[in-house]
Amino acid sequence: ETTPNGGLLTIPSSSKACRDIAGISTREEEYTVSITVVGASGDLAKKKIFPALFALYDEGSLPKHFTIFGYARSKMTDAELRNMVSKTLTCRLDKRENCGEKMDQFLKRCFYHSGQYNSEQNFADLDKKLKEHEGGKLSNRIFYLSIPPNIFIDVVKCASKSASSTNGWTRVIVEKPFGRDYESSAALTRGLKEYLVEDQIFRIDHYLGKELVENLSVLRFSNLVFEPLWSRQYIRNVQLIFSEEFGTEGRGGYFDNYGIIRDVMQNHLLQILALFAMETPASLDAEDIRNEKVKVIRSIKPLQLENVVIGQYKSHKKRGITYPAYTDDRTVPSDSLTPTFAAAALFIDNARWDGVPFLMKAGKALHTRRAEIRVQFRHVPGNLYKRSFGTDLDRATNELVIRVQPDEAIYLRINNKIPGLGMRLDHSDLNLHYAARYPKEIPDAYERLLLDAIEGERRLFIRSDELDSAWELFTPLLKELEEKKVAPELYPYGSRGPVGAHYLAAKYNVRWG
Ligand code: NDP
Ligand code: BG6
Repeated sequence: ETTPNGGLLTIPSSSKACRDIAGISTREEEYTVSITVVGASGDLAKKKIFPALFALYDEGSLPKHFTIFGYARSKMTDAELRNMVSKTLTCRLDKRENCGEKMDQFLKRCFYHSGQYNSEQNFADLDKKLKEHEGGKLSNRIFYLSIPPNIFIDVVKCASKSASSTNGWTRVIVEKPFGRDYESSAALTRGLKEYLVEDQIFRIDHYLGKELVENLSVLRFSNLVFEPLWSRQYIRNVQLIFSEEFGTEGRGGYFDNYGIIRDVMQNHLLQILALFAMETPASLDAEDIRNEKVKVIRSIKPLQLENVVIGQYKSHKKRGITYPAYTDDRTVPSDSLTPTFAAAALFIDNARWDGVPFLMKAGKALHTRRAEIRVQFRHVPGNLYKRSFGTDLDRATNELVIRVQPDEAIYLRINNKIPGLGMRLDHSDLNLHYAARYPKEIPDAYERLLLDAIEGERRLFIRSDELDSAWELFTPLLKELEEKKVAPELYPYGSRGPVGAHYLAAKYNVRWG
């Protein structure tokens, strides 16, 4: 694969080629990895990227020779960057441990270069500095674009001009949002591919880096007891739930242009759905997994407006505190129709899932923070014990819950006899509670994803055809909502969301978990 403009690629960066470079310790002397965080003055860089890089360093997962550069327009010295970064680093591995010395060593390897995003000269100056640090070794480079997407192409273009002299691989990590709809996303992909080949583009969906999302395939494909049940024959419905107990605080300007469907459903929840529902991949190879994800996303029936409910939070007073409405944010127009909540029923048109409702729900300013997959199984045919459950037979069905956050857990609801002489039934949870089973802290999603990008492992990154199929699914719905100016149902801040979501679920005989 080549790019029209020469691009950033110098060595084909298949994951195997990368591991050949990165995996053999005797050759560690020979190569270096430079990571440039573009937009280093921003929120994500401070909150996630630098702390994740430090955590990787702290546990010895970064290559021996590495350099980190922050790049942004803000004027800062190396010392100022280090000071800014140091405030958000934590001793993640063991909070009791004092990792101050490691932090100092790490910070000494962080530098800053101020420049414009569309200046070839500024990027050429950065290149010069990178080369000094690379010291003539085989130089591999990562550019992490932690900036608004409208300047991605400028950066890639400018960086590519000076990159022709590097002798290793170059990879570019891009953050969502990848466009607002099918057309803008395709235009962004086309723009990036003027300078990069697909293998160099690492599109982040940080939900794929979460422990329990990664574990989904392990649960399905390495346990005999689950996969045979994983179909319409035994599963009644699947719920994919994302809820936050805070509003869009501070991000209203961004959010109002996107809304919850683009912000969470089209990416995080759809990715989880794809991993949940895909067929068994031929292998664990990134391409095999991504092929299956694309197939299942393409099999989802077009979304119907009558299967969608949207909401927006309104102000609410509780225990003397007034919680703001979405439109109280000064960066949000007072007549905004942007949904901060959405629920949808999706159907996969294939033999495995025919007729099974996949109910998605995502919302901000709700009563809890959680991300969960809930799988409700069918009733036991001819259940001998049905009288023990009275009229509420639903309570007798098995349910598998995969709690992605907070408090990671997998639990399966089963029916059992209450001990004693009579015959009374109860239901209990077989519970894998991660904090109890694995006291060691779970890595942050960004740690896993950054390490994978360094190692050239693409399994947890979104391929362009996956992105296209996700937008193909949601774009017609988004256009219809916007063209018809559908008004979101208002729900109080801190509540369970609009009642419409309950009616939607009830239409398919589902009760939200
Ligand atoms: P910021 O808005 O903080 O932007 C990052 C940096 O980019 C800023 O410090 C600023 O640096 C520069 N910048 C901001 N706006 C512009 C502009 N209009 N033109 C040129 N440069 C600009 O973003 P975040 O750090 O919050 O996020 C970075 C990326 O990650 C974005 O694409 C965002 O959508 C995405 N993202 C962020 C998440 C988060 O939690 N923050 C979560 C998921 C995705 P300077 O002025 O110094 O050049
Ligand atoms: C981001 C969304 O992608 O994910 C945010 O843009 C949301 O709106 C965030 O708050 C949630 O991520 P996490 O990891 O905190 O659940």
